[in-house]
Amino acid sequence: MGSALDQSRARHVAIIMDGNGRWAKKRGLPRAVGHQRGVEAVRRLVRSLEGTGLECLTLYAFSSENWKRSEDEVDDLMNLMRRFIKSDLPEFVANNVKLKIIGDWQSLAPDIVAMLEDALAQTANGRQTLAVALNYGGQHEIARAAAKAAASGEVTIETIAAQLDTHDLPPLDLLIRTSGEIRLSNFLLWQAAYAEMLFVDTLWPDFEPAHLTQALNDFARRERRYGGR
Ligand code: FPP
Repeated sequence: MGSALDQSRARHVAIIMDGNGRWAKKRGLPRAVGHQRGVEAVRRLVRSLEGTGLECLTLYAFSSENWKRSEDEVDDLMNLMRRFIKSDLPEFVANNVKLKIIGDWQSLAPDIVAMLEDALAQTANGRQTLAVALNYGGQHEIARAAAKAAASGEVTIETIAAQLDTHDLPPLDLLIRTSGEIRLSNFLLWQAAYAEMLFVDTLWPDFEPAHLTQALNDFARRERRYGGR
């Protein structure tokens, strides 16, 4: 285990959880079942968080583009969110997991906003951060941050970064996408500037803590140059 200054140890990993629909389709099951199994994969990963030594895990749960899905599917995803917060919040508190939400989550249904506010308050003293991206779009996040920086009178990389939803998180080290798709889909565009990328074929419901451990081990072996030699 490295020290806090050890560059080979990841502090912040983000995951684009993709492939719930294909997982269900392969089995002749409704997409909703794929999403349910996707939540179980989230739960397994959060339970394994302490052993990873990560300071932050950021998950892309609902993008600002996901509203284009059918009303039924959007309802399913929102209901899964409600159930997940309700059932797993006591565990977060017990395991020192600090919840953070990024994206335009304040415009979600009022009962979800209230649940999230309560969850944020209850987990405020946690040690490891679970950041969940809800109604999130990277371009919009950058535009909002740039507008705030401009209003403060100075537009620089630093003043924009200070206004991003992730301003209080460690720099992003590693971005993982499951299900074999190789694109960012508007996730953490600014933060990914120097992040390592890992695209794996595993469909999200099949993603296990061992896959994350493997990814962290691979990361530790990569040489990061940040544009230098
Ligand atoms: C991608 O699968 C996944 C999503 C759009 C949502 C991710 C959501 C979850 C894992 C569940 C909710 C999360 C929490 C934290 C409660 P897809 O439907 O795009 O799969 P496909 O590309 O195979 O169709």
